[in-house]
Amino acid sequence: MSGTPLTETRIAPSILAADFSALGSQVDEVIAAGARVIHVDVMDGNFVPPITMGPLAVNAIGERVHAAGAAVDVHLMINRPEAQIDEFAKAGADNITFHAEATVHANRLVQAIREHGCRAGVAINPGTPVGAVAQLAGDIDLVLCMTVNPGWGGQAFIPSSPAKIAAIREMLPAGTPLEVDGGVDEQTAPSCAQAGATLFVAGSAIFGAPDPGAAYQAIAKAAGAA
Ligand code: DX5
Ligand code: ZN
Repeated sequence: MSGTPLTETRIAPSILAADFSALGSQVDEVIAAGARVIHVDVMDGNFVPPITMGPLAVNAIGERVHAAGAAVDVHLMINRPEAQIDEFAKAGADNITFHAEATVHANRLVQAIREHGCRAGVAINPGTPVGAVAQLAGDIDLVLCMTVNPGWGGQAFIPSSPAKIAAIREMLPAGTPLEVDGGVDEQTAPSCAQAGATLFVAGSAIFGAPDPGAAYQAIAKAAGAA
């Protein structure tokens, strides 16, 4: 697990929106701008319609991310996540977040992720009530609140999200990172920060911008992040 703590407010660029023909240099660019958490969106064509990337992509960026003291933040949008933990941990994941909707053994999965030396996160879809994470809230390394329906980058932020973020924040022990993912940009980040989010995934708002490093810094400023 990378030494980068998740206690500080951070922006996590999502490589889903990066230019894959230049993945290494795109990652270097956001790290040079200050990024210390790099988000990897894993989709299986089953839990969500698209198929994106797997452990190979984690392995491809792992060395440069860790060399910068940064963390690889893996977001599993897959069914039966328990079957894949070993592969992602071996590939260099630092945080592994699964969806509460995708497993019936969430507590066991948290233990398995930690046994692999990674931080364990639980994510919920926009249509899933906050109660789905209540039982885990006291013993989880991060909670991810989807602010779009998972599956694609570039979707519009769901306006009711800040109220949901605030409700999750109330359930969590102080200091537990609360991640938001989907439609996060300079305009939407402040309301998430105010509601208690501390980790902000941004894909198209960073890698879709002409200068990803500058876009990173603008969102970091808007979110009050390092
Ligand atoms: C969506 C993914 C997101 C995606 C966000 O299903 O989980 O991480 O990369 O992309 P933007 O920031 O473009 O909404
Ligand atoms: Zn994601």
